[in-house]
Amino acid sequence: MDSLRIFDTTLRDGEQSPGFSMNTAEKIRMARQLAKLGVDVIEAGFPIASRGDLDAVRLVATEVRDVPIAALARARKDDVSAAIEALEPAAAPRLHIFLATSDLHLRVKLNMSREQALEAIASMIRFGRQHVGEVEFSAEDAGRTDIQFLCEVCRVAVGAGATVLNLPDTVGYAVPEEYGAMFRHVREYLGDPQGVTLSAHCHDDLGMAVANSLAAVRAGVRQIECTINGIGERAGNAALEEVVVALAVRKESFGVSTGIHLEELFPTSRMLSEITGAVVAPNKAVVGANAFAHEAGIHQDGIIKNPLTYEIISPQTVGVPARSLVLGKHSGRNALRLSLRDLGYEPSDGELAEVYRRVTALADQQKDVRHRDLVAIAHQVIRRGAVAVAAEAASTA
Ligand code: KIV
Ligand code: ZN
Repeated sequence: MDSLRIFDTTLRDGEQSPGFSMNTAEKIRMARQLAKLGVDVIEAGFPIASRGDLDAVRLVATEVRDVPIAALARARKDDVSAAIEALEPAAAPRLHIFLATSDLHLRVKLNMSREQALEAIASMIRFGRQHVGEVEFSAEDAGRTDIQFLCEVCRVAVGAGATVLNLPDTVGYAVPEEYGAMFRHVREYLGDPQGVTLSAHCHDDLGMAVANSLAAVRAGVRQIECTINGIGERAGNAALEEVVVALAVRKESFGVSTGIHLEELFPTSRMLSEITGAVVAPNKAVVGANAFAHEAGIHQDGIIKNPLTYEIISPQTVGVPARSLVLGKHSGRNALRLSLRDLGYEPSDGELAEVYRRVTALADQQKDVRHRDLVAIAHQVIRRGAVAVAAEAASTA
């Protein structure tokens, strides 16, 4: 299997979006956790943005030695110099230079001709390479760039010394077939140069960031840029946890492996939520509170008989402590019996039927049934054996 690198930009593309800013101590805490998770590159910030950002990148680079650290810079000398300064303490620095290449961005934002863009790309990559061994170049808005010009940009960037070529769908406009085709075209044009890695970077404006990233993998890309919980500009970036779990669950189909320790996904997601105060939606894939919760009676029954009936990943695989069988108006008797057993009750069939009747009546009024509700109902209905009395005594002690 080919290995695929995971470039994490939670601390840069994620951190720069509204509501997700982190102070230096928080960035270091997250960076350590990202290292534990097993990412291949940590993009720690955009040093020209502020002195604080530059210092934060320096500190992350000082503290986290076992993962390459990247810093972002526009294709301008002051930007690149700031990134070089920030990366100075890094054990394995990566300079990440970008310039927009779509005609729209060149004209409206940069007031540059295509020729001027090519010149800036070549000269800034050459300058960067004098100071940092590894330079990545990103063609911002590649997804909307004329494909012939994009090929030219890639040829110039490789010629100047870039060893990673990142072609972002900056505005989340692409669909998977198009995004994959763009990489196939560029690969064909470049003739797969040795030592150059193609990279995908997708935004989620149309909800396709993960699908587009996976399409890029099928087209030969061997680095994916993504963020924890999918945080990032506007609708966010491709969610790291979704990309790596999809690649793991469907590994026969994709034929690539990552170095991610899947069991660290949930703890990493929770740490980010705790630091930023932004909790993920309950139905978020892989790390949402409902990702391993089952309420429908038919599903609960299947899960009790064999989890494979309704789960394609086990909660333990991604570090979720346990699946939960939610007691609500849709839940079934098997799940109820298990929950009662956990409380120390062994109800007769008649008692179970009565508890079930009371639980569903309560669920009709208050959405779900909490632990203490079930304890109270069980207490009223079930003739208590010694185990239940002991369990009850322990819970009220
Ligand atoms: O979305 C984008 O194009 C970016 C680049 C700066 C890499 O974040
Ligand atoms: Zn981005």
